[in-house]
Amino acid sequence: MTNVTIVGTQWGDEGKGKIVDWLSGEADIVVRFQGGNNAGHTIQNKGKVYKLSLLPSGITRGKKAIIGNGVVLDPWSLKKEIEMISNEGIIINKENLIIAENIHLILPIHKKIDEINEISRGSNLIGTTKKGIGPAYEDKVGRRGIRLCDLYNYKELSKKLENLIAYHNVILKSKKIPNFDSNKILNELIEISKFLIPFASPVWKYINKASSDNKKILFEGAQGSLLDIDFGTYPFVTSSNTLAGQINIGSGLGKNQQNYVLGITKAYTTRVGSGPFPTELKDSIGETLTERGNEFGTVTNRKRRCGWFDSVIVKQTAILNGLDALAITKLDVLDNFDILKICIGYELNEEKYDYFPFDTEVQKHIKPIYLSLPGWESSTVGINKWDNLPLNAKNYIQKIEEQTNCKVAVISTSPEREHTILLDKPFK
Ligand code: GDP
Ligand code: IMO
Ligand code: MG
Repeated sequence: MTNVTIVGTQWGDEGKGKIVDWLSGEADIVVRFQGGNNAGHTIQNKGKVYKLSLLPSGITRGKKAIIGNGVVLDPWSLKKEIEMISNEGIIINKENLIIAENIHLILPIHKKIDEINEISRGSNLIGTTKKGIGPAYEDKVGRRGIRLCDLYNYKELSKKLENLIAYHNVILKSKKIPNFDSNKILNELIEISKFLIPFASPVWKYINKASSDNKKILFEGAQGSLLDIDFGTYPFVTSSNTLAGQINIGSGLGKNQQNYVLGITKAYTTRVGSGPFPTELKDSIGETLTERGNEFGTVTNRKRRCGWFDSVIVKQTAILNGLDALAITKLDVLDNFDILKICIGYELNEEKYDYFPFDTEVQKHIKPIYLSLPGWESSTVGINKWDNLPLNAKNYIQKIEEQTNCKVAVISTSPEREHTILLDKPFK
């Protein structure tokens, strides 16, 4: 039995939601294992569009959904998302959604701190989603965080909250910002606990039993590998590990099941927020990619920065994730270009690089070395068979395979579920 893990190989928004939704037809369980509602996963079937931030994308297909302990959970945001999706006729209850009891909560103060931190970074701002993700993970690692299971005992919760708020109020005072009111937050938490507690579960038990029972588990990554706290473009990253190695810790699955890791990869490159991006195009070609790819953030509606396909970063993240294959998305966005470029290396001060180094200054100034390929200048929209792709589109895909040293198993040619070419089946 094989599990499947979906990760983004670039800076996020690669189309993970579409591929998770498509693959979840074959899965029994879909699991989120890191990140939070900074994610925005878009799924589309027969014109119907869902935008999910916290709920695992398989939930719209009636699959059992799990939010693992590696996620940071904003209960108010989850409630809104559940209400939104219930209005679409999808009922969410404790039968189809369970949440790890040991998950850390994002509180309203975390969102506020996220904003304050961004302001104090001045011109070095990260451009976070301001959802409180970083501050919530900081409190988790600082051993002051509030977990879902802390909502079971209001008396103890009150003490834990006081300790947490006292810590932050010292910092607020130094910045001459009014203090947080721990009583107000306690009341808000007590109120939301009635909604949240019914979903709470020792997920680690459930998932290990499911694995022993040979259930097919699909792990849904959020963000992208270059946003990983350890291996991304630090400090312009998110605050969790986004690589496939996080699935066990973020869900409690102990067994090393056979796991097919599929790296979702846009046919070009995008990034939202600040930070190095070697193949960024600040010209009319970049604008064309933004327009044709409709590259506006799902969560913050910010315009995404766009550039040519960078095979160096994908070759690197393929190794870091232990990828079995790539899924190339948004091939159709490249339909009208006469020339396409792929970055195959970098140079700086006459030094050549065949990998993306960690030094932020080098990352910032490094120049891409490009390979040019002829475009196909015809529509690929909706194609779902390899044989029907134009020759130059096949050549482009094969060049990506060659340069990243990773085979392509899936190609996506529109946001629609069925507009997908399958070359190798992830669930074995
Ligand atoms: P995620 O965060 O990785 O799930 O990706 P997002 O949902 O934030 O962004 C990907 C966007 O591309 C969404 O609007 C998808 O509907 C859309 N999309 C996914 N695959 C394709 C594709 O093959 N072609 C086109 N044109 N759009 C796609
Ligand atoms: P999905 O799952 C793209 C980016 C933010 C910012 C940085 C840190 O949809 O691919 P954070 O709020 O996490 O502290 O912000 O990370 N970022 C994403 N960019 N897609 C995402 O998720 C992202 N989640 C966070 O823009 O640069
Ligand atoms: Mg997204």
